[in-house]
Amino acid sequence: MIYLGVNIDHCATVRQARYREAAATVGGAVEPDPVTFALHAERAGADGITVHLREDRRHIQERDVWRLRENIATRLNLEMACTPDMTAFALKLKPEFVCVVPEGRQEVTTEGGLDVVGNLAAVGTCVAALLAAGIKVSLFIDPDERQIELSASVGATFVELHTGAYAHAYYTTARSKEFQRLRLGCVRAKDLGLTVNAGHGINYVNIAEVRTLPHLHELNIGHSIVSRALFTGVEEAVGEMKARMNG
Ligand code: PXP
Repeated sequence: MIYLGVNIDHCATVRQARYREAAATVGGAVEPDPVTFALHAERAGADGITVHLREDRRHIQERDVWRLRENIATRLNLEMACTPDMTAFALKLKPEFVCVVPEGRQEVTTEGGLDVVGNLAAVGTCVAALLAAGIKVSLFIDPDERQIELSASVGATFVELHTGAYAHAYYTTARSKEFQRLRLGCVRAKDLGLTVNAGHGINYVNIAEVRTLPHLHELNIGHSIVSRALFTGVEEAVGEMKARMNG
């Protein structure tokens, strides 16, 4: 079975579009509440809840993360930049998982994978501190052999292979090349003892092919589920994705 981590960032994106300046993140007229979204997602079979606490706090706020920590029944996966501040925050929060991601202020959403090769010392320090606190660590990387090898060398528990380039190429002739890159990445990561997750840009259409990647442990899916939930409600959106993931 492939596990589903539901990324709820875009529920908070909608709230922030209206209530960015509000003192409260929940209650009164402030909606939608990402924590409520998470609880509905769990009820429909989500295996974990994923949030990205970005430096610019454009969607998820610290208060959301602490409320999730107190209220969800599954596992919390904190996506974060590789910085001393975020590492200190994660050590206080103690999520089950941290996924280290690159962060660019101008990007609309996470664009490329983490450059483990170019930031080996910083990534190694961050991974070691989190592992020592009992937090399992994932590195969000492009499916490139060198990135995968160095992710294994710093002791990461998982890699999350970036499916964005594949999703972007889905309706073009580059799709099969991108899929093959992912397939080889999954095999290489598994050979090196890494657990293989994947995410970014996965939707109700491309899941039919994504689910055939070898050795997949978990998929992290956000935008398509939050979007579908507008029409069907959260539970149907999550249940439908789980069903498509596992055939
Ligand atoms: N995985 C990671 C590491 C992410 O940063 C994101 C969001 O950018 C996702 C998965 C989910 O991507 P999407 O919202 O496109 O499903």
